Amino acid sequence: MAGFMHRMFYLHFLILLCAVFCWQGTPAQEINFPTAKNITWKSTNFKTILEWDGKPTNFTYTVEIRNQFDGIWKRKCNYINKTECDVTDLLKDVNATYDVRIISEVRSDEILTEEFPYADGPSFKPYEQTIIGRPSFESYDFNEGHTQLKIVIKDPISPYRFENKTIKTVRDIFGTDFRYTLFYRKADSTGRKEAYSSTNEIVISTSKGEGYCFFVRATIPSRKTERSSQDSDEKCTSSVGSAARGFAASTVYLYFCSSILLFWLL
Ligand SMILES: *[C@@H]1O[C@H](CO)[C@@H](O)[C@H](O)[C@H]1NC(C)=O
Ligand SMILES: *[C@@H]1O[C@H](CO)[C@@H](O)[C@H](O)[C@H]1NC(C)=O
Ligand SMILES: *[C@@H]1O[C@H](CO)[C@@H](O)[C@H](O)[C@H]1NC(C)=O
Ligand SMILES: *[C@@H]1O[C@H](CO)[C@@H](O)[C@H](O)[C@H]1NC(C)=O
Ligand SMILES: *[C@@H]1O[C@H](CO)[C@@H](O)[C@H](O)[C@H]1NC(C)=O
Repeated sequence: MAGFMHRMFYLHFLILLCAVFCWQGTPAQEINFPTAKNITWKSTNFKTILEWDGKPTNFTYTVEIRNQFDGIWKRKCNYINKTECDVTDLLKDVNATYDVRIISEVRSDEILTEEFPYADGPSFKPYEQTIIGRPSFESYDFNEGHTQLKIVIKDPISPYRFENKTIKTVRDIFGTDFRYTLFYRKADSTGRKEAYSSTNEIVISTSKGEGYCFFVRATIPSRKTERSSQDSDEKCTSSVGSAARGFAASTVYLYFCSSILLFWLL
């Protein structure tokens, strides 16, 4: 009986000993890496890069992104020693909300991924948060009678493609939830007018012989914040009408002179 008690005591002692030392001996206790600080999403026209603070010293970073719809963490930028990561290709479902965590880890066969420390970042919804880049112009031309000016805007492109491989523009992604506003004025006046379009073409009525100056802004009407892009540069039409007349006159003059020259030569 005494022998049994003795053995039991010994067993308990061993368990206790192991609890103290074996537990301390597991790698989990030694993993003491600093974690990422100030995790920031930088996203323009759906190209999205994560940036954070904390240069890695004795470890590397791995980024994990989770679409809240399916809840599956996906790894990106495995074992990097930089503090930025392009995660654009994990955010194709632009209407989803994404979570991010950045793991501080080292390559190891023994240690399980779950044991490394990580930092959570803010969540991100591309449809509501990507910044719309400053638009620019493809072309602008008066019609023949100089009564209309047709302005064609260069749609900003996204990093994504349709199934047929055609590149999606930012306007393709927002569909009808996208609008350009053209701000225009006569070149010699300050009175400004606005015109709107949900395509990339805007036609305005013009007065014969007048030059016009204009710039454009893209807006996502459904948004509460980051609704508008920065304004494009301002463009001014040269006084196309008078320039053309000047050109015509000099051509006629040249033709007249050559005719006289030819007449004398022949
Ligand atoms: C890594 O370095 C940091 C200081 O830069 C230190 O606090 C930490 O204990 C180190 N971790 C390991 C596992 O060596
Ligand atoms: C956080 O990161 C942003 C962008 O990288 C930077 O502008 C800002 O100064 C940082 N904030 C702190 C507290 O370090
Ligand atoms: C960072 O990683 C690159 C490539 O993996 C490696 O060549 C470089 O030496 C590393 N730099 C540091 C400071 O560890
Ligand atoms: C994204 O959401 C907006 C409004 O919430 C909706 O109008 C649009 O159709 C959605 N786009 C996709 C691709 O699901
Ligand atoms: C590709 O598909 C998109 C959307 O379905 C369509 O607008 C575009 O014209 C197509 N491009 C080609 C080259 O077929």
